[in-house]
Amino acid sequence: MKFRKFLAAGAGAALAFSLAACSGGGAGSTSDSSASGDDGAMMEEGGTIGVAMPTQTSSRWIADGDAVKSGLEEQGFDVDLQYAADDIPTQSQQIDNMITNGVKALIIAAIDGTALSSQLQAAADAGIPVISYDRLIRDSENVDFYVTFDNYNVGVQQATSLLVGLGILEADGTTETGEEGPFNVELFAGSLDDNNAHFFWAGAIDTLQPYIDSGVLVVPSGQTDIEQAATLRWQQETAQKRMEDLLTGNYVGTDEKVNGVLSPYDGLSRGIITALQNNGYSGTVADGFPVVTGQDAEVESVKLIVDGVQYATIFKDTRKLAEQAVVAATAYLNGEEPEANDTETYDNGVKVVPSYLLESDIVYADNVQELLIDSGYWTQEQVDKGVA
Ligand code: GAL
Repeated sequence: MKFRKFLAAGAGAALAFSLAACSGGGAGSTSDSSASGDDGAMMEEGGTIGVAMPTQTSSRWIADGDAVKSGLEEQGFDVDLQYAADDIPTQSQQIDNMITNGVKALIIAAIDGTALSSQLQAAADAGIPVISYDRLIRDSENVDFYVTFDNYNVGVQQATSLLVGLGILEADGTTETGEEGPFNVELFAGSLDDNNAHFFWAGAIDTLQPYIDSGVLVVPSGQTDIEQAATLRWQQETAQKRMEDLLTGNYVGTDEKVNGVLSPYDGLSRGIITALQNNGYSGTVADGFPVVTGQDAEVESVKLIVDGVQYATIFKDTRKLAEQAVVAATAYLNGEEPEANDTETYDNGVKVVPSYLLESDIVYADNVQELLIDSGYWTQEQVDKGVA
């Protein structure tokens, strides 16, 4: 697997241009030719686009589904949006049905990135373009485009927030404070059938390893392999159970305390926090509650961050991701290739999939307002209640 930093130069301008270019008259219009001089490319008449999302148990995927649906509808398409309750056969069947029903394009956030080869072959045979949404679909030639974030950097940001929370790095995320620890940390990874989990882990471990090597960080459980740290289907309960087992096996009955936990997703973070609270850890990070990281800026976790209980999360603006998926789908249906800003990083085992990568931000209590509320991602009321 190859990891690479991504350059966003010009990406915003390209998005603004392509949205402007295709927003003129909706999907049914052929009168608005773009400034590219590509007068021959005709937008196809409407039609339905299939959108396959993994689960509704996480507020993030609901936000994604809603944003993709409304973006496509604004472009004049009908949308068949399906959630699969994290069940692989259900998702396969939903995609089979979409193909049978003659969708014009597919946008898929896979549950298991390796499980869709036969569906994708059928899509290719029917000439249906396939856009992989946030999670890379692996082991298939028939993935046309990938929209996601710079997932390696997300892992770097997760580890950075852990180091800042422990006081090893200054708030700028780069300057070392000289703090020598040692701090006890435990490490969690996502679902191994999700390609992203490997990128998040790689970014995080590359960042933490020097501190583990120097003894500033100690992992009392010794569980430092991704296989040991993995959480099948990103399930909150599974993370809670593993954290409870880690506490029982390595801390309870000793003088050792957990100081920090690397968590790659807010759902896992909430399970980890519950396990810690069930084992006598209480209060806020300022009072000594362990530093727990996260990802997705789910509103339930944003509330915990404002309350000082979860330390940080990573904000990936799903509105922008949805926009990119809409831009890509619209490009295909307009007879064009979507514009990639990365054509090297995401090898799916068969080919490097042209990708559009977006950037993410670390959210701490003191920038919730700026990043999440001022930008309109969540309202103050939603954050206060912790409910979307
Ligand atoms: C990943 C995604 C993360 C998180 C996780 C669990 O694929 O990149 O942002 O949502 O799934 O849903």
